[in-house]
Amino acid sequence: MSNADLMEKLVSLCKRRGFVFQSSEVYGGLGSVWDYGPLGVELKRNVKERWWKEMVTSRADIEGLDAGILMHPAVWEASGHVEGFTDPLIECKNCHRRFRADEVRDQCPRCGVRDQFTPPRMFNLMFRTFMGPVEDEAAQIYLRPETAQGIYVNFHNVMTSARQKIPFGIAQIGKAFRNEITPGNFIFRTREFEQMEMQYFVKPGTDKEWFDYWRNERLEWVKSLGIRPEKLRMQQHTREELAHYAYDAYDIQYEFPFGWQEFEGIHNRTDFDLSAHQERSGKKLEYVDAAANERYIPYIIETSGGVDRLMLVLLADAYREEEVEGETRVLLSLQAGLAPVKVAVFPLVKKDGMPEVARKIADDLIGRIPVFYDESGSIGRRYRRQDEAGTPFCVTVDGQTLEDGSVTVRDRDTLRQDRVSSSKLSEYLAGALV
Ligand code: GAP
Repeated sequence: MSNADLMEKLVSLCKRRGFVFQSSEVYGGLGSVWDYGPLGVELKRNVKERWWKEMVTSRADIEGLDAGILMHPAVWEASGHVEGFTDPLIECKNCHRRFRADEVRDQCPRCGVRDQFTPPRMFNLMFRTFMGPVEDEAAQIYLRPETAQGIYVNFHNVMTSARQKIPFGIAQIGKAFRNEITPGNFIFRTREFEQMEMQYFVKPGTDKEWFDYWRNERLEWVKSLGIRPEKLRMQQHTREELAHYAYDAYDIQYEFPFGWQEFEGIHNRTDFDLSAHQERSGKKLEYVDAAANERYIPYIIETSGGVDRLMLVLLADAYREEEVEGETRVLLSLQAGLAPVKVAVFPLVKKDGMPEVARKIADDLIGRIPVFYDESGSIGRRYRRQDEAGTPFCVTVDGQTLEDGSVTVRDRDTLRQDRVSSSKLSEYLAGALV
């Protein structure tokens, strides 16, 4: 299977099974915005919950925050985004398509004409809108292009209300918006997306140590999601690649079907942001260490991941095709903890009292384990649907169940079928789903 085929198959599976739909599809779709369907939203919630648990609830040194998408416009002036959050844009004079100058050479990727580009101009990626009924420059505000700034401007509020001392962190999950010139590759580069960001405030001079610590922590967490390690790597930014706020940065990259690309970054932002906000707002954003009789503007180590990109990593990594008895079996080998549905329950046939028994088993599990009941179509088709949905276990009620109360439990990845007493099913699944 070629890499282009893999992307096409993944997009089609995501639509067929209800993971991801094109936004506003009935109107022909809205470029570069995607909607998450019933299975997609569960997978996304599981990813975000895992991150929140790792970064916030299991640590005493990190607090959570949920800041607004709309912020005072001065935030984006101080942060450097109004001035510097730009990409070089060029236009093909023949077909009038626009591209990022660093992504094309001399030939138009659309119409093939050579050397017919306009000179590059810097294009700001921030979406603009107006606050209130008057649409003039004074009312212009931005949709945030990163969640980080909501954390910086709340640094003092969080520190004092939560009585934290340096080093400590603030974490946030939320939407961000970028008017990308060339969005694409499904949910990889979109104009509306979600970020999971954590900003760790440290004493200047200890930043290198904390930078190394967070690089390691984040890579280990990503690996804990079951992603194939050979598809993961860390890449340090060159001087030219560094964002305007970064002193040092590493990307965690995945080998997508379209090549190695980042899905999370770890950045040493120094005191760039807090100094800029202190200067622009006139409010002190220092940390006062009374015991050491010191005051300083903390340095910030940032871990910044995209929820949607991580979803694409997980989906692409989990996608498998296998030949089984002359047929191609498609499955999503998602880690059980991340899978949207953990167990599907089927009656082998729709008669002889099997549906009633199967329904009761499903009803007993519901509320404790995400479970799906299905009695429509052949048993083979039902297994195939669940394989594509990434459901780790299928429980089938058959003739033997009616005699001795046992059911079969089929493992999605190995296809092994265990016979388990229905009275022990909960226990069996609890053990298998860890
Ligand atoms: N606060 C730092 C920051 O925003 P970034 O490298 O620009 O850094 C961080 O973005 C992460 O956000 C990326 O690694 C990626 O996962 C995600 N991201 C950025 N732009 C995106 C886009 N247009 N579509 C989807 N995800 C995006």
